[in-house]
Parts: sequence; C-alpha cells; structure tokens
Amino acid sequence: MEKTARAAKGEENFLYPVPAVMISCGDFESGGNLNIITLSWVGVLCSAPPYLYVSIRPSRHSHGIIKETGDFVINIVTTELAASADFCGVKSGRDVDKFKETGLTPVKSQFVKAPGIAETAVNIECAVREIKPLGSHDVFIAEAVGVSFSDYDAAKLICNAGGKYYELGNFIGKFGYSIKK
Ligand SMILES: Cc1cc2nc3c(=O)[nH]c(=O)nc-3n(C[C@H](O)[C@H](O)[C@H](O)COP(=O)(O)O)c2cc1C
Repeated sequence: MEKTARAAKGEENFLYPVPAVMISCGDFESGGNLNIITLSWVGVLCSAPPYLYVSIRPSRHSHGIIKETGDFVINIVTTELAASADFCGVKSGRDVDKFKETGLTPVKSQFVKAPGIAETAVNIECAVREIKPLGSHDVFIAEAVGVSFSDYDAAKLICNAGGKYYELGNFIGKFGYSIKK
C-alpha cells in the first residue's frame, strides 16, 4: 500500500466509515421548532456514564435549536430511511418542514423535550452537558439519558464512507473471536 505523508487539512480528516444518523430536535410538547438534521460527525465518548458527541456547524438551523433546548435525539438510520436522511442533510429547517416533507413521525421522548422519529429502529435521548467550539464545528457533549429500540439485529444499518452511503455487509465475527478456541 502506498503511503503518502499528507496533513489533514480543510474539511477532510480521512476517518471512514462514520455513522450517518438523523438527529431530531425542538420541543415536542409546544411543537416549537421541530427539526431533523443528518450528521456524520457523531460518536461515543464514554460507556459509564454513557456519553456521546455530535459536531454541528454553528450555521446550521439545528445548532441554535439544540443550544436553546439543551437536548436532542439520535435516530439510527436504516436502508429504508437513507433517502430521508439524505434529504434532512441537504435541506434546512429554515426553509422546509422536514418532518412534513419526509413523512417521518415525531414521537414523544421519555426524558428529553426533543421528539424521537417513530420510523427508526433506535432512538437515543441525549441531554447536552457541554458545548465545545473547535473551529468549523461545535462539539455537543451529551449524556444518553434514555434509549428505545425495536429490533437492532434485524435493522439494515447504513454508514457514510467518503460521502457515499453503504448498507452494512456480512457478519464476519464477534468481539474476541480471534482468540477464542
Ligand atoms: C451524510 C451527511 C452528514 C452530515 N454531517 C454533518 C455533520 O456532522 N455536522 C454538520 O454540521 N452538518 C452535517 N451535515 C450537513 C447538514 O445535515 C445540513 O447542512 C442540513 O441541511 C442542516 O439542516 P438544518 O439547517 O435544518 O439544521 C451532513 C449532511 C449529510 C448529508
């Protein structure tokens, strides 16, 4: 394999695959500012307590909403919802009602103001604990305070590799299989 010493620069940081998830936000009770934004700069920070992060450009409509309400829901995307996720990643809630346009259904969460998306297999309810500006993006460090899921195993999950969406492929082994007798 040819290796090139090349500094990570601009908007590229060369770590793929990454998730492509839909983040729902706004206040479900009042119906205020309900929105969905698709994000890939998302990940796990800590198991116990369960902490996650999402990185959002301050220019995004969702940035202001999440900053104000202090919470959001991470909705895992499956193949069936890939086109809706793409739509929520190219259109702004400033211009369109993304719940209406995609036909996705907001559902009341247990522990946060933001609604989950009914059609997704997994909803992770997150309470923002810290916002860290890094440059192009602000990192929202959040505690996962609730989760609801239907059938994780049956769900056809997708990921983002270099701006292209892929369905996860064949099962090839599980944690620790390399040393199991
Ligand atoms: C696959 C995908 C991943 C994205 N990841 C991010 C991200 O991690 N952070 C971000 O700020 N924007 C990301 N975006 C762009 C936003 O989703 C997009 O600008 C969206 O229209 C913003 O919506 P809003 O203005 O309603 O908040 C991504 C878009 C796509 C399609």
